[in-house]
Amino acid sequence: MTADGDDPIISKYSRLALAALSGDDLSDCDRGAAGECSFGAVAYADRSQAPESAFRASLGCGNPLMVAGLRPGDTVLDLGSGGGLDVLLSARRVAPDGVAYGLDASADMLALARANADQTQVTNARFLHGRIESIPLPDNHVDVVISNCVINLSGDKPAVLAEAFRVLKPGGRLGISDVTADEGANPVQLARSEQDVGCLAGALTQPEYQRLLTAAGFSGVTITSTSRAADGLHSAIIQAIKPDRGLVRGRQAHERVSDSVPLLCMAPAGGEPRRQAIPGAGHREDRANHADPDGDVRDVE
Ligand SMILES: C[S@@+](CC[C@H](N)C(=O)[O-])C[C@H]1O[C@@H](n2cnc3c(N)ncnc32)[C@H](O)[C@@H]1O
Repeated sequence: MTADGDDPIISKYSRLALAALSGDDLSDCDRGAAGECSFGAVAYADRSQAPESAFRASLGCGNPLMVAGLRPGDTVLDLGSGGGLDVLLSARRVAPDGVAYGLDASADMLALARANADQTQVTNARFLHGRIESIPLPDNHVDVVISNCVINLSGDKPAVLAEAFRVLKPGGRLGISDVTADEGANPVQLARSEQDVGCLAGALTQPEYQRLLTAAGFSGVTITSTSRAADGLHSAIIQAIKPDRGLVRGRQAHERVSDSVPLLCMAPAGGEPRRQAIPGAGHREDRANHADPDGDVRDVE
């Protein structure tokens, strides 16, 4: 077990990753409480482009690659990359000259992602250890930021969106899947649903998401509900663009919004993982080199 224990959310995902590495099934939501569970890899029609173990390790609530518009040569960053499915799929699309980064705060999730990567021929995937509220990449470094069901977990969503904005190149694109709260949902029911589906820091409503993205400096924001996740909750695809002239405005807006937006509820971690074989073993954990993120990543053993 690695030292991911200070943050209960990261601890939860570390436990899931370790369980997966030892052959257990992964599930983020309480299927009994939530009724049908729309999470996992159900949004991926073509399962030929990544190992089956990576699909089975998916804890997403959509498929951000459907809207990411990845092109060969792009640099992509996946916020909260988990078992690595979206990183591996992205790496294939941006090859041979592009790079796909996965960022996760759980060293055990990084080990799971590496085990999945080891089953592929992919050589342009990089797994970074860090938090999405403080992305270990330079300004203006990536063409596309994707994320799958992670931003709802952050207790500082304005910081996450400001960081996504910072690392994007001018003209860069944001394409994420996330869980959003229905406007006017009963707060008690909403809190129960959030706990059931693992939204441990509370979901934003779509107008709140829109407002935070705009405050961070993004333009062209679109938010599209894709499926019901639970009572009062929907999965959604969120898209936005970093305009060519917006960096300073975005940072100022983030500071202003961070100070003023009251965020968020916190609920205890959810149920036990289920059994499923995930072949492969853990390897080293990688940390980003801030000065040279494309250089060799360092072992932290
Ligand atoms: C619901 S899982 C989604 C994983 C992956 N995106 C997928 O679709 O399967 C959330 C992931 O985000 C990571 N995570 C949660 N909060 C984070 C944070 N603040 N910074 C970095 N990673 C975080 C967890 O360790 C976990 O791997």
